[in-house]
Amino acid sequence: MSFNTFGLLFRVTTFGESYQQLSVRVGEWYASLRRTFLDKRRPGQSRFTSQRREPDSVRILSGVLEDEASGREVTTGAPIALVIENVDQRSKDYSEIRDLYRPGHADITYDLKYGLRDHRGGGRASARETASRVAAGAIARKIVPGLSVRGALVQMGSHRIERARWDWNEVDRNPFFCPDAKQAEFFADYLDGVRKQGSSVGAVIEVVAEGVPAGLGAPVYGKLDADLAAALMGINAVKGVEIGDGFLAAELSGEENADEIRMGNDGRPRFLSNHAGGILGGISTGQPIVARFAVKPTSSILTPRRTVDRYGRETEIVTKGRHDPCVGIRAVPIGEAMVACVIADHYLRHRGQVGEPPPWPFPAR
Ligand SMILES: Cc1cc2nc3c(=O)[nH]c(=O)nc-3n(C[C@H](O)[C@H](O)[C@H](O)COP(=O)(O)O)c2cc1C
Repeated sequence: MSFNTFGLLFRVTTFGESYQQLSVRVGEWYASLRRTFLDKRRPGQSRFTSQRREPDSVRILSGVLEDEASGREVTTGAPIALVIENVDQRSKDYSEIRDLYRPGHADITYDLKYGLRDHRGGGRASARETASRVAAGAIARKIVPGLSVRGALVQMGSHRIERARWDWNEVDRNPFFCPDAKQAEFFADYLDGVRKQGSSVGAVIEVVAEGVPAGLGAPVYGKLDADLAAALMGINAVKGVEIGDGFLAAELSGEENADEIRMGNDGRPRFLSNHAGGILGGISTGQPIVARFAVKPTSSILTPRRTVDRYGRETEIVTKGRHDPCVGIRAVPIGEAMVACVIADHYLRHRGQVGEPPPWPFPAR
């Protein structure tokens, strides 16, 4: 099974399935793993996420050394290998679906492509793999000086947050990573109802990266927005990605959409708005990068759905096991991690190709 690696200079390779240990190898870069990021993704943290017990503790196998003078972990320059053990394995939850295709899952496509699949928890298609991405993201955040990448859940089902109430401090105070305290209270009741019905809902997550220097990304097939879109779309259950105003931009006039430019007091260009989401021509402007992604409702639900088995027989399926009523919640730190990895990769690519940015503004002609 190919394509287990992403990134060009900040290169991440993951391996392991739902019921094996997961490994991440991050090419020759810098480490200091922050538990907090993995804690955000792991299940069982509230009644609104899966009750699987996955402590997601990380072992660092290589590439890191304790500096005797400072006592801090430093990288040696060798590839960093990380391992995340699976300790809550209940393969029997999945034995009933060994031969059945769960609608909305990759069961059918793996069989159609490879002629075989690991039915235990979705195998390589399992979102368990995303724990590795969060670990890689924790390293990526260390590479770009002053970089901050934060994500928030801005919509659950058809219910949006009130943007005027956006408060980043709220994100860590509720189980939904929601920046609107009032809407988070509503989400608690709403999702309780969904969960009790054995159903599920989707969500929209917004990721904002600040402290991204101007100049990251390259024309024409190395565009920063294209790589961000690919990275976010590559997360399990993601069905749509927007940069900046995204699909709303199609409704704006040219006047409304123009991010007008003035000179800032620091002698740098200052944009008066950010409809573009911090990227023009595939290159970062220095403004915050804003990306949103839509996560579909969890496919595993308690209402019977029609399907077929591996032998072409029509039947029905009810997916048992421990599932999140809204996987969008745990997708927040995964989205942050993917954005951090792409920005770190482009930061290194930019440094390798351009080095120091040109002095700006240019002398007048
Ligand atoms: C953090 C996270 C947890 C997930 N957990 C579940 C789950 O418990 N049950 C489920 O049906 N899908 C879950 N998914 C989604 C499936 O992994 C995904 O829908 C499936 O592999 C098919 O891939 P696709 O939706 O990207 O086409 C989860 C996704 C994420 C991001």
